[in-house]
Amino acid sequence: MPLTRAAFEEALRLYPPAPSINREPVETDHYRDLVLPRGAQVLVMPWTVHRHRKNWDNPEAFLPERFHPGNREKIDRFQYLPFGAGPRVCIGASFAMQEAVIALAVLLKLYRFDTVGETRPWPVQKLTTQPEGGLPMAVTRR
Ligand code: HEM
Repeated sequence: MPLTRAAFEEALRLYPPAPSINREPVETDHYRDLVLPRGAQVLVMPWTVHRHRKNWDNPEAFLPERFHPGNREKIDRFQYLPFGAGPRVCIGASFAMQEAVIALAVLLKLYRFDTVGETRPWPVQKLTTQPEGGLPMAVTRR
């Protein structure tokens, strides 16, 4: 289960379902030397933060070992934001992690998932990150 969890966390790093998080200051605010005027549209981009070369070694590679026990603890709270952060952090984060990891572990134990000729994954943002045209796979019972 820890390895399944690590693979899922790495998938959330490369393909965060919420690739951008929006805020609009109700009053003029400041962040470091930035002025954020009232009504400004502020985008925090987990997609970019999760792939920034200053934050990650080999950022484009799928490397679940980043999230293995012993490595996971070294990831800064604000460099990995699939569930957001702060007062509006996702209230379903723990539930979503449990559900996804159990579902993934059970499915992978029973079935094989193989790419096929038509599998051409391409991420698009339609509010959430989605595979354009779906993600056809061949499923066989183990
Ligand atoms: C992989 C699954 C999920 C992801 C990636 C995700 C991601 C997020 C993110 C990034 C936010 C913050 C949005 C913001 O700051 O503007 C959020 C908020 C929220 N999420 Fe999730 N979420 C997931 C699953 C769930 C589930 C399963 C539930 C409910 C059972 C849930 C309920 C909520 C609620 C109610 C908020 C709003 C919290 C607030 O504004 O105080 N989410 N989610």
